[in-house]
Amino acid sequence: MSTLTIFSSVPARAAEAEAVPVATSRPIPAVLGADLEVPVKGGRLVGYANLDYAASAPCLEPVSAAVTAALPAYSSVHRGAGYASQLTTARYEQARHTVRAFVGARPDDAVIFTRNTTDATNLLARCLPAGTTTVVFDTEHHASLLPWQKSVRLAPPAFPGEAVRAADAALAGIDGPKLLVVTAASNVTGELWPIAALAHVAHRHGARILVDAAQLVPHRRLNLTALDLDYVAFSGHKLYAPFGAGVLVGRRDWLADGEPYLKGGGAVRSVGDDTEWHDDPEPRHEAGTPNVLGAIALAAACDALTATGWTALVREEERLIARLRSGLASIEGVRELSLWGDDHPRVGIVSFTVAGYSAREVAETLSGEYGIGVRDGKFCAHPFVRHLLGEADGGCEDGTASAVRASIGIGSTQEHVDRLVEAVRDLVNR
Ligand SMILES: Cc1ncc(COP(=O)(O)O)c(C=O)c1O
Repeated sequence: MSTLTIFSSVPARAAEAEAVPVATSRPIPAVLGADLEVPVKGGRLVGYANLDYAASAPCLEPVSAAVTAALPAYSSVHRGAGYASQLTTARYEQARHTVRAFVGARPDDAVIFTRNTTDATNLLARCLPAGTTTVVFDTEHHASLLPWQKSVRLAPPAFPGEAVRAADAALAGIDGPKLLVVTAASNVTGELWPIAALAHVAHRHGARILVDAAQLVPHRRLNLTALDLDYVAFSGHKLYAPFGAGVLVGRRDWLADGEPYLKGGGAVRSVGDDTEWHDDPEPRHEAGTPNVLGAIALAAACDALTATGWTALVREEERLIARLRSGLASIEGVRELSLWGDDHPRVGIVSFTVAGYSAREVAETLSGEYGIGVRDGKFCAHPFVRHLLGEADGGCEDGTASAVRASIGIGSTQEHVDRLVEAVRDLVNR
């Protein structure tokens, strides 16, 4: 009879997910790969200093444990009558509840699992009412810059209030449905955008707002309801859940009316002479067998971060990022990229240039000689990086101009940060 007990209790647990208080202030969880050793010049092995979290963050141990626990019963979702199928379906739907609670969504918001943030923004783009105009800043990641059919592009604003003013003016001049798209935390500078004020302005003009939270949610708490946001999108692989799932959360109506994102099994109620599509956004846009383990992983990461508590996470990140920034600032020829100045609040991301070296040379030296992983390039934000480099270096005619990006998170250590600073100092002094 234990089988029956589990069978009937799993869906009930899923339904109650939001009501269950999550314990707070657990120790910061460990990440997998913290003891990874990598070869450097001369064949020596050194501990890997992963400073590339903004691209993809390592897997949290609780995430790995959740996936491992789900694997033995892994089965199809939403279709099978078998026990494993029922259990996996319950786990998948539980993941949806967890994500809903994590972002503080309204009870009637849709929570659609996607492949990643790019997939989520493209899904929303396909569901916009006919004739919708999108207003988007040139500072966006390409995932939020490119999917829109009809958009008004705004120049990088000189200060946060200018962002609000520019959005206000642009939205005032648009008739018909409109959507403001903005990132919560820049993937180039880490700087936080005034999303509450932008949401307010959008709504004053009858527009909606989509917040690209890919770089915010690994670092800060986000509450969609409190901020009055219409949609948020983010990726599991940047949130310590590298199993290939992302999410779009937000108002149901446009998503319920939009053309099904993928056409196939699961999205239809019945197929005969006519096809009857689901009205509910989740089945409508999740045709085919979904990435169940990706959703379970993403939800486990949400749980782990919530259980740790944001105060501890933010305190440690701010300590390390301040050390990194002041270390880099002390090196002649190193210039940090910033839109709104040194004192503007930011998450654990720093992009910089080193005079006399290309970003690729710096990144390759850091990897090959010091065992440090960073990113170099324009970070899928070409207009923004060009703008920042142009300002910093007096021009960006060189199409290859780019920057180095160091980014931190759970598992980053003071030794990693100090190693980067000393390596850049060595390079400059050669
Ligand atoms: C701010 C921001 N938005 C969107 C994306 C796209 O994320 P994904 O590659 O997971 O679709 C990224 C990835 O770097 C990002 O930093």
